[in-house]
Amino acid sequence: MLNITVLVSGGGTNLQAVIDAIENGTLKDVRIVKVISNKEDAYALQRARQHGIDAECISPKNFTDRSGYFETMSRKIEEADTQLIVLAGFLVVLSGDFVKKWTGKIINIHPSLIPAFCGDGFYGLKVHENALKRGVKVTGATVHFVDEGTDTGPIILQKAVEIEEDDTPVTLQKRVMEQAEWIILPKAIDLISKGRVFIKDKRTYIE
Ligand code: GRF
Repeated sequence: MLNITVLVSGGGTNLQAVIDAIENGTLKDVRIVKVISNKEDAYALQRARQHGIDAECISPKNFTDRSGYFETMSRKIEEADTQLIVLAGFLVVLSGDFVKKWTGKIINIHPSLIPAFCGDGFYGLKVHENALKRGVKVTGATVHFVDEGTDTGPIILQKAVEIEEDDTPVTLQKRVMEQAEWIILPKAIDLISKGRVFIKDKRTYIE
């Protein structure tokens, strides 16, 4: 059984995709032991509670510094007996110490085909606005391990999504979620839970 903690900031549709995959049996031997949001009003917290999952808000606003915040986060995550941390739309930049402590045990979902439209400032609708502005014909989503950089860690899975002529950032965001994010996030967790993902020289190998 792989125990995961999911970190969220917003609506939590990716969290929902993982919950659904566990409940419908496509994701076996995986348990969400905790959901943590930096925002009290994140709908993701409600989604978790509706499914009987322990969910709480830990806000950086209640801490005087980032290191204190991430020490508390780490402690809570450890106390839940977590083996894998899943960032599903978590909009707080992780501290270096936190990443170091959990290296190889944190994954993130990003709504583009990394290395396009990623890095500092590329989050939410901005990713899709930039893809449309650049006129790419294909975009998608990426699940990757988290390292000390922004969206620079070893890539686990990617899935492409075609851009349509009349797409807006909002329609594109929705299609990338439906056709890519909600599929590859549970799939990556499944591969990790089966011990099939290896990291070597900053890339992953799936066996
Ligand atoms: C998703 O687009 C995800 O790729 C990004 O943040 C968004 C979170 O959406 N990291 P949701 O809260 O899962 O609906």
